[in-house]
Order: sequence, then C-alpha cells, then structure tokens
Amino acid sequence: MTQVLNNEQLKQALTELDKKHFIHPTSNMKQLQEEGPTFIFTEGDGIYLKDIEGRKLIDSLSSLWNVNIGHGREELGEVAKEQMTKLAFTSAFSNWSHEPIIRLAEEVAKWTPGDLNVTFFTSGGSEANDTAFKTVRHYWNVNGKPEKKKIISRKKSYHGVAMGSTSATGIPEFHTFTQSIAPDFHYVDSTVESFNEMIEKEGAHTIAAFISEPVQGSGGVNIPEANYFKEIKAICEANDILFISDEVICGFGRTGTNFGMENFGITPDIITMAKGVTSGYAPLGGMVISEKMHKELYEKTEGNFWHGYTYSGHPTAAAVALKNLEIIKEENLIDNVNEMGKYMLEGFEWIKEQHAHVVDVRGIGLLGAISLHRSEGAEAKTPKIVQEALKRGLICRAVVYDGQDTLAFAPPFTITKDEMDQIIHIVNESIQTVG
Ligand SMILES: Cc1ncc(COP(=O)(O)O)c(C=O)c1O
Repeated sequence: MTQVLNNEQLKQALTELDKKHFIHPTSNMKQLQEEGPTFIFTEGDGIYLKDIEGRKLIDSLSSLWNVNIGHGREELGEVAKEQMTKLAFTSAFSNWSHEPIIRLAEEVAKWTPGDLNVTFFTSGGSEANDTAFKTVRHYWNVNGKPEKKKIISRKKSYHGVAMGSTSATGIPEFHTFTQSIAPDFHYVDSTVESFNEMIEKEGAHTIAAFISEPVQGSGGVNIPEANYFKEIKAICEANDILFISDEVICGFGRTGTNFGMENFGITPDIITMAKGVTSGYAPLGGMVISEKMHKELYEKTEGNFWHGYTYSGHPTAAAVALKNLEIIKEENLIDNVNEMGKYMLEGFEWIKEQHAHVVDVRGIGLLGAISLHRSEGAEAKTPKIVQEALKRGLICRAVVYDGQDTLAFAPPFTITKDEMDQIIHIVNESIQTVG
C-alpha cells in the first residue's frame, strides 16, 4: 500500500531528493546541501506564487524577469496542449518548416523596430546571444573582413551562460568560475570615452560588434544616460561595428515600449530576445536581424549557415509565444506597465524619503531598483532586507556585485495599484527592520 504523505513529510522527502539528485542553476552548492531548497513551489496565480507549505508570496521579479503576463494563465496551457497534441515537435533544419514558427516570425517582425524583421529562434537568451556573436563574425567574414571578430560589452552586463554569452557578461564572478573564457571578448565602462579608448587600443578592423542591454538587469537595473546609446551607435556606424541590443529582459514591453532601445532613440542592427516572448510559459529565444542583413547573408553565404539548435523553431513554444503576445496586446498590458511603472517609482521615492541610507531609486516601465549607501568593504544590507521581505510574503532580489547594495524589481505587467501598495509597504518595513 502506498503511504500518503502530508505536506511536511512530502517537503522532507523532496528536499532529500533535491539535495541528492538536482544541481540548482546559479546556486550556492554547499548551502543547498546544508539547508536544502528554501521554497518548493507548487502553484502560481497572477503576481503570486504558492509553495508546498502553503505560503503565498508576491513574485515582484516575475520569477526571473520573465513571467510578464503573470502566473497561472490557462489560455497558454490550452494552446500548448492543442499544439502538442497536433504536432509537438518537428525539425526546422534545412528546408523544413511549420506554421507556428512562420506565424511567430511574422508576429515578432510586427513588434520590432525598423526593418528588423527576420528571426533565428533558440531556446533562451544565452543561445540567442551566442547566435548573434557567431552571426556577426560570419557576416564580416562573407563581407571580406575576417579580422573583425571581437565583441565589446559593458562591465556589469549579463548576457547569459553559454560559452560566448558568459564571456560577454561583464560580471567578473562568471569569469572566475569558468577560469578560461572564450577569446575576443572585451569590456568597457559605461562611458563613450571608454568605448573610444577600446576602439583605439584594439583597432576597429578587429571589432565585430558591441553588445548591450538597454537597461542592465542582473547587474543592478542600471539605466544609462539619455544620450549614451545614440553616441555609441554613431561611433559603431563610423567604424563598421554592429550594434547588438540584448533585449532578453527589456523586450516585449518591460520598459514601457516594445523594445528597450526605443527609450534611447536608436534602432540596433541586431536584437536578441527570450524571456518575455513566452512570459516563461515555454523556453524560447531568438536573434532578430534586418532584412538588409538577411539578404546579404543569403546572397553571400556559400553552402550552409552552420548553426542550428534542435529547438530552433519549436512548434509548441511558438504557439505559446503567439498566445502570450496576443494577450499583451489585447489586454493593453504595456499601458499598464507605463501606468504602474510610474506608480512604482513614486512608491520608491516615498521609501527614499523615509530612510537616509537609501541613496538612489530608479525605474523605467516595470523595471526598478532601490540602492542603499554602502561604504567600501562594508557588508551589504540588501540580502538581509530580502530575508525580511520573504518573512512578510514578498520575493525580491538583492544585487551586491561591485560594491552595490541594490534591491531589484520587475513585477508582472498585470499588477494592480493595491498589489503595488503591498510591495511598497513590505519593502519599506523590511528596510526599517534591518536598519
Ligand atoms: C539580459 C539577459 N541576457 C541574456 C540572458 C540569458 O538568458 P537565458 O537564461 O534564457 O539563457 C539573461 C538571463 O537572465 C538576461 O537577463
């Protein structure tokens, strides 16, 4: 007879199995062995997550900046079931295709600026960035400039963990872990001077592309100066350097525009995307290039474009993405991003007034941060604030790289005023408690 476990027993059993068999992504392995997982989640509804012990938490980061339409949307489950039952998977390699991926490529083109109308699909953001790095190198190769290989990225940037994307990531911890990163990646400070110095040092004839998030997410929700990207883009154009916008977090409405770079008045040469395209309901990402670049590539490439993942064009993921994008449009969720984003920032300003050590608050759409003063060598306070917030039923993230002491927020696009008030109230109380 199988024994029926109560929730406490089930949590214990799952914890032991987790420790024994599961390697958690970006985690402290030692701590996990000692303490096991903090939460074993079971359900999601709107901005809330529920765990196995019945605790209900506000997910103020949309999990990993990705569950943009909120948890528990049945429509996505229904289209996934329908597509899986009809045609769960087929290859899109070589000259095979299927309707969901064709429709999604067309839909993405409606969202993207300029003539960025042609998409290569991946399973996520890291693969999207690796795809972009290989594509720009190939592009310069077929254009008779094979020396153009180097990729320039910004310090504090996060571009993922595949070999290329982890090498482009400007957070040193990811490099120390890997020990040997890929060649031809260089990092600049977030100033125009630093970029110019890099070009001078390395030579424009060796540089293939510049990559940047419109707003750095994992690096601390860092919003650049209004003219920064315009100036960088002009320098790129003058030096035949392609501009890749990593829109994995910012894409599909997070900053209040379709894509984040629109806030800074430029159209990049390439967009990489993931997360928000499916709101995390299925793994999907991609690289979007211009029609002009696409034409050059197909005219000048002899033989194959030697790059393709098994899941480059997954029918079920594509069907989910199409439904997700339809929901964002039909429910005017980007309008809510703008409205609630403004309200979130007002709340942050109010928090700043309450605490002298809150030195900066910022936000763009529903992407925001609260930064605390941190003296050199001092311990960061935000990890403790995050623990206090958890006790009060709120999930948020601490960013402590590079001497920062920042709380990051990216709530679901569906958030209401009342729900935002709860977030502001809990964050304020948690800062107060830690002192
Ligand atoms: C800006 C940015 N680029 C790339 C990635 C990597 O995406 P993925 O984790 O889907 O590989 C992330 C993930 O957080 C990201 O925030």
